[in-house]
Amino acid sequence: MRVGLMGATGMVGTEMLRILDERSFPVSELRAYASARSEGRRLPFAGGEVVCEVLRPGCFDGLDLVIVDVDDPLSLEWSPQAVASHAQVIDKSSAFRMDPDVPLVVAEVNPEDMRNMPKGIASCPNCTTMIPVTALAPLHRAARIDRMVVSTYQSVSGAGQVGLRELDSQWTKLDGRSEELRHSGAQPGFLVQGEVWDKPIAGNVIPLAGSVKEQGYTSEEWKMVHESRKILHDDAIRCTVTCVRVPVYVGHAVSANVRFHRPVTKAEVVELLRDAPGVLLVDDGDGYPTPQEAAGIDPVLVGRVREDPSEPGSIDLWITGDNLRKGAALNGVQMAELLL
Ligand SMILES: NC(=O)c1ccc[n+]([C@@H]2O[C@H](COP(=O)([O-])OP(=O)(O)OC[C@H]3O[C@@H](n4cnc5c(N)ncnc54)[C@H](OP(=O)(O)O)[C@@H]3O)[C@@H](O)[C@H]2O)c1
Repeated sequence: MRVGLMGATGMVGTEMLRILDERSFPVSELRAYASARSEGRRLPFAGGEVVCEVLRPGCFDGLDLVIVDVDDPLSLEWSPQAVASHAQVIDKSSAFRMDPDVPLVVAEVNPEDMRNMPKGIASCPNCTTMIPVTALAPLHRAARIDRMVVSTYQSVSGAGQVGLRELDSQWTKLDGRSEELRHSGAQPGFLVQGEVWDKPIAGNVIPLAGSVKEQGYTSEEWKMVHESRKILHDDAIRCTVTCVRVPVYVGHAVSANVRFHRPVTKAEVVELLRDAPGVLLVDDGDGYPTPQEAAGIDPVLVGRVREDPSEPGSIDLWITGDNLRKGAALNGVQMAELLL
C-alpha cells in the first residue's frame, strides 16, 4: 500500500511509524506530513528514513491510505481531500467519530463495521474510551451492560507532545522540594502555571480532562458516553464518567463499576476475560496492573475484579492500557490491516 501519515512527528504519529514496521504492514511508499516546523526532518522508519513534508493541495495523489494523526480542525480540512484523491482514510482525531456514515472501530470489538465506509473514512475511538471498551465488550456480549460508573486516570501523553513536555518541565522544578510543596498549599507561583493545564500537573491530580461542555461534563467525558454506545451498538447503555489527568507519562487507567441486565459474578468475568482478544487478565491473588506495566505493550490489562458488595450482580474492575498503542496507533494499524 502507498501510505500517507499526517502528524508523523507527534506522539501518536511516532508510535504509528514504529507499529507499521513492527507488524510488517505492507508499505510500498510512505509519505510523512507534519507542520512547517518539521519540514525536511528525517524520521526513522523500517531501518531507513522518511523525510517530512508539509500538507499542500494534491499532496495525497497516488496514495491508497492516509492515516490522520493530527487535531480535529486539520482532519476536518484534509481528510476529505485525501478521500478526493481516492485514498481511504483512518482518522484518530474526533472530527468524524460520531458521523453516522463513518464507522468507529475497535479492531477486537466491531471489526465488521470497517466493511461500511460510505465516506471513505473510518475513525479510531478516543484513547480513554478504547481501553475500557476493549475489555468490557466481551462482558457486554454476555450480559449486556445497563450502566457504567467510570473514573479515569489519564496520562499526560494523551494531551500530545505538549502535555509530555509540561510534566517534564514541572518535575524538574519539583525535584528536591517535597518539604516546600507540603507547606505551599495552593500558593500561586509555587510552580509556574503551564500552557496545557491551568494548574500544575506534576505532583498533582487534575479532575478536569478535556474542555467543559454541556451539563458541566468535559469533552473527554462525553466522548466516553457517546463513543462506547456507538462501538457496542447499544444506545441504551447508561454511562457516567469523571475524567482525571494524572502525572503519569504513558498509560491511561480506568476504574469502572458496571451493572448488567442480569447478575454477573466475578468467576464469570474472569472466565470471559481470560481468553478475550486484546486483553490480559492480571488478577491472581494480590496482583494488579499499573499504567507503567501497560506502557509499550499491546494488550489492555485488567485487574481488581470484584463483586460490588453494595449492589449484588454488579462488578468493579480496573483497566489500564497504553494510550499511544492500543489507545491510538496500534488500533489504527489493526484497522488498516482490516482494510487489506
Ligand atoms: N495522544 C494520545 O494518546 C491520543 C490517543 C488517541 C487519539 N489521539 C488523537 O490523535 C491526534 C494526534 O495526537 P498526538 O497526541 O499525536 O498530538 P501531538 O503529539 O501534538 O502531534 C500533533 C501532530 O500534528 C502535526 N501538526 C501540527 N500542526 C500541523 C499543520 N499545520 N500541518 C501538518 N501537521 C501539523 C504536528 O507536527 P509538528 O511536530 O511539526 O508540530 C504533529 O506531528 C489528535 O487528534 C488526538 O486527539 C491522541
